[in-house]
Amino acid sequence: MWEKAIVVLFLISIVKSEYKYTTNWFKVPLDHFGFQRNEEFQIKYLVNEDHWDKNNGPIFFYTGNEGQIELFAQHTGFMWDIAEEFKAKLVFAEHRYYGESMPFGNKSLDNEHIGYLTSEQALADYADLVDYLQGHEVNPKYPVIAFGGSYGGMLAAYFRMKYPHVVAGAIAASAPVHMYPGMVPCEAYHRIVTSSFGIAGSKCVANIRASWGALRNFSTTANSSEWLQKNWKLCDPVRNATEVQQLIDFLQSMYEILAMVNYPFASDFLVPLPAEPVRTVCQYLNETLKGQALLEGIGKILQVYTNYNGRSKCVDYKKGSDYGNLDASGWDYQACTEMVMPMCTTGQNDMFEPRPWNFTSYSKACYDKYKVYPKEGFARIQYGGDKLDAASNIVFSNGLLDPWAGGGILNSISSSVKAVVILNGAHHLDLMPANPSDPENVKLARGIHKDNIRTWISEFVEANS
Ligand SMILES: *[C@@H]1O[C@H](CO)[C@@H](O)[C@H](O)[C@H]1NC(C)=O
Ligand SMILES: *[C@@H]1O[C@H](CO)[C@@H](O)[C@H](O)[C@H]1NC(C)=O
Ligand SMILES: *[C@@H]1O[C@H](CO)[C@@H](O)[C@H](O)[C@H]1NC(C)=O
Ligand SMILES: *[C@@H]1O[C@H](CO)[C@@H](O)[C@H](O)[C@H]1NC(C)=O
Ligand SMILES: *[C@@H]1O[C@H](CO)[C@@H](O)[C@H](O)[C@H]1NC(C)=O
Ligand SMILES: *[C@@H]1O[C@H](CO)[C@@H](O)[C@H](O)[C@H]1NC(C)=O
Repeated sequence: MWEKAIVVLFLISIVKSEYKYTTNWFKVPLDHFGFQRNEEFQIKYLVNEDHWDKNNGPIFFYTGNEGQIELFAQHTGFMWDIAEEFKAKLVFAEHRYYGESMPFGNKSLDNEHIGYLTSEQALADYADLVDYLQGHEVNPKYPVIAFGGSYGGMLAAYFRMKYPHVVAGAIAASAPVHMYPGMVPCEAYHRIVTSSFGIAGSKCVANIRASWGALRNFSTTANSSEWLQKNWKLCDPVRNATEVQQLIDFLQSMYEILAMVNYPFASDFLVPLPAEPVRTVCQYLNETLKGQALLEGIGKILQVYTNYNGRSKCVDYKKGSDYGNLDASGWDYQACTEMVMPMCTTGQNDMFEPRPWNFTSYSKACYDKYKVYPKEGFARIQYGGDKLDAASNIVFSNGLLDPWAGGGILNSISSSVKAVVILNGAHHLDLMPANPSDPENVKLARGIHKDNIRTWISEFVEANS
């Protein structure tokens, strides 16, 4: 269950666009912070200079998050959309231990090698890469703007905070920078998932809340496994309590993901989905349903989620929250070490079965899997959560339909650490390519981003001329 907190962070919506870039490699130290290991390895970065003014143009730098960098490059359309206007060079850097930026090849995620996977090491990689892109100049020439969404948004903000001499400013989209222990209620995330479903259909939430008991009840009856496998097109039967729980976990993560990617246009996300997927699936729960009729409705939702393009033969529910094509397997380790983000459900303010947050059992699961002990207060102490008065030149943008907004900065902190709220936006909608279905307020948000970027660039130019 603890994995659940986690994997959902990583979804990036895939809108069909084909952008061109060159693929490059950059050598970084395995350990930036100790002096006993001398190994190096290479991280990947993608570059586009089509519109770059090599004399004065800025560098737009995407701080890669947990996944293959190509995915982020192809789906951060906002950077591509504004490159020409700013005469910018685009750089997308891959986070160590993801994609092909593996220090120990295919053994990198083994317990004896995984220890150099931290956000601090990744940021130090990015700082070295920017230094290289600036030609190792003591007085760097090009203003650098960091961009990122989700965990990448956290990294963009932290990049500016930790290396303000390297980065002139940061657009941190949907970055849950204070979803750390003690900082926000653990049920915040699932409360927002639920409210997104509540907006989409008046009976939807009550039906989903009732479906857990109905499913558990039904699963104890004769032939229920056959019925579920046939009606829900499951790849595997549901034979015992462990498998019922796996199915419930899969459904819960399905609702979380549907809420995250509740975009106004069809998107080929992790999973291909229609426009407004939450409203689409809630059509199947438009009246109060019970028993088998309710389960049939849930089965139809499963089909939308797993087979919108008609290509999947069956529902692989045993994949749990790892369903989808973004390979974020290193994230569980990060969540088990410094990035502890408490999640819980109450069944009262959300539509899920109650599941308390229990750091002791979370910690035990981490030890069992990686032989590590998570540090509950580490990220808060390292990065400050929402105590960012001393930071500058960061925009935190959040869509209120996005469950991760529960841990986001929704009110400006100072005149240069600003919040942009996108009323009907899902997970980092503002970083997506412009689309005819975009709501007015995401267009406004992108305009505000551009104004800030312009300000940061001129500040940099002024200070360095
Ligand atoms: C791991 O990498 C090595 C060396 O590149 C290769 O020989 C081996 O087949 C790989 N193993 C797996 C499981 O992919
Ligand atoms: C479960 O089944 C029992 C006995 O048939 C019934 O009383 C109860 O209401 C059912 N619960 C749910 C949540 O469907
Ligand atoms: C369960 O399946 C068996 C074998 O297909 C069948 O004989 C039996 O009648 C079924 N029981 C119920 C309650 O549907
Ligand atoms: C549940 O069924 C699966 C598949 O048959 C099996 O591997 C697993 O051990 C079972 N779990 C329990 C708790 O019986
Ligand atoms: C719910 O949707 C179904 C299928 O579209 C439709 O037949 C039914 O009339 C709807 N029920 C209500 C109460 O709107
Ligand atoms: C938390 O989990 C631990 C270990 O699994 C258990 O002993 C403890 O009772 C749990 N605490 C609460 C408050 O449920």
